Amino acid sequence: MSREAKLEKLAGKREEVLLGGGKKRIAKQHESGKMTARERIDELLDQGSFVELDQFVTHRGTEFGMAGTVAPGEGVVTGYGAIDGRLVYVFSQDFTVLGGSLGEMHAAKICKVMDLAVKAGAPVVGINDSGGARIQEGVDALNGYGEIFKRNTLASGVVPQLSVIMGPCAGGAVYSPALTDFVFMVDKSNMFITGPEVIKAVTGEIVSAENLGGAMAHNRTSGNAHFFAKDEHECIAQIRRLLSFLPSNNLESAPARNIGDPAERADALLSTIVPDNPNQAYDMKSVITAIADGQDFFEVQPYYALNILTGFIRLNGMSVGVIANQPKSLAGCLDINASDKASRFIRFCDAFGIPLLTFVDTPGYLPGVAQEHGGIIRHGAKLLYAYSEANVPKLSVITRKAYGGAYLAMCAQSLGADMTIAWPTAQIAVMGAQGAANIVFRKEIGEAADPQAKRKEKIDEYDDKFANPYCAAARGFVEQVIEPEQTRFYLIKALDSLLSKKEARPGKKHGNVPL
Ligand code: HXC
Repeated sequence: MSREAKLEKLAGKREEVLLGGGKKRIAKQHESGKMTARERIDELLDQGSFVELDQFVTHRGTEFGMAGTVAPGEGVVTGYGAIDGRLVYVFSQDFTVLGGSLGEMHAAKICKVMDLAVKAGAPVVGINDSGGARIQEGVDALNGYGEIFKRNTLASGVVPQLSVIMGPCAGGAVYSPALTDFVFMVDKSNMFITGPEVIKAVTGEIVSAENLGGAMAHNRTSGNAHFFAKDEHECIAQIRRLLSFLPSNNLESAPARNIGDPAERADALLSTIVPDNPNQAYDMKSVITAIADGQDFFEVQPYYALNILTGFIRLNGMSVGVIANQPKSLAGCLDINASDKASRFIRFCDAFGIPLLTFVDTPGYLPGVAQEHGGIIRHGAKLLYAYSEANVPKLSVITRKAYGGAYLAMCAQSLGADMTIAWPTAQIAVMGAQGAANIVFRKEIGEAADPQAKRKEKIDEYDDKFANPYCAAARGFVEQVIEPEQTRFYLIKALDSLLSKKEARPGKKHGNVPL
């Protein structure tokens, strides 16, 4: 064969791969509002940066008609490229080729980029759009999933792993996203272990795919997803934005991005935001945005467990993970879902060296039989564990209520906060004055000529004594009581002083987080 013919052969083979499942299936993909696997990669990565790997890998299936079946690219496009100039590995399942189903060699392509990402110390972004295990390949397909799950686990805490659901993701296939750090879902995509048909056959329940495992179901109800996007373009913008806050691996720092927002910028809103009435709500998001560089707060899981906020900000250009009680929802109390949401976020930040900033205004753990029987003891313990385990810089700001176990669970000094700042409106106590009076002064109130008046007197007395930050400050549990409008300045100072923080932990194989 001549040199020209060889080049022509290469061009022909490449063209075949680039066309995936063919024009008809691509058109169908577009008709359903979806981009193709390659279009998604092109939009995700910096222009022209994508380098494809394993273009010519083919399956080895022989059963059920597979011997004669051509599957261009094996139903998945893999490779590497850049996002904001930083290296990222990607795989993108091609639904136009055998429904993006995962066979032995499809899995091998994914495993290869995961291995390369760990060796190179770069994030992996996996775009899922697949009918699941390739039915014709049987156990070879299952084994492929196992290889991926193992790699997801071993890469956890080494490089950030992002899963993007842009189509179906069913059966055991859901466990790869579940093992990764962040799950993005686009409207109309879905994830479930068993679909509506199987559920109907087994339990008789009738449910639509959307209600069962749609993007909002997982963002709002199950908590399996972290981000919801109305379309693929919005989703890709979210992925790029998230990565801008993260380091490429656990040994590097997150990129600094200083926009020139002055460190000493005071915000008068902070001095008036906490209402005089301790039972009145306010929006903790306003506090976070007021102190953040450029007032920019990138929220993680904004639809789930609304009583706690998690997300990223920058302080003087530095990436910081924020955890905050939200008084606007369930009075900011801690419950099972809030504990799970916050703990996972804290452990991600700690694994990747991102400092933690906690805003505290919580009356405590949510009382109730459902919470107790649902395991609030175990779930709440995750928060204590996650904060105690974390050895990144840990800053806490107590804006109002910090009662009981929840005071500790929201990164008290005893759990290792390096700097605890309180506003004059802070109330750091075992419990609220009303509850305390009922218990401690029950006898006195009961025996009083006017129990109502006595009760009020005792509540006021307890309030006077404990509903302030000064008892805690007197013990050194709070380092600074500050004017709220100066919060940004104090936090940046504290963060600067802790950049070189080193805090060793006892050597061990791994701890046993209460799961
Ligand atoms: C092989 C598959 C496939 C699969 C889809 N296709 N899923 N081929 N293995 N798992 C093929 C179809 O035959 C079809 O081929 C093409 O992909 C497009 O599929 P359609 O059904 O036409 O598309 P659509 O109507 O959009 O429906 C998409 C779908 C449906 C909802 C995903 O295809 C579906 O239900 N597939 C099966 C899902 C499933 O049960 N998977 C196994 C899960 S168990 P043609 O040639 O006609 O275009 C699992 C175990 C993993 O994953 C365990 C790991 C531990």
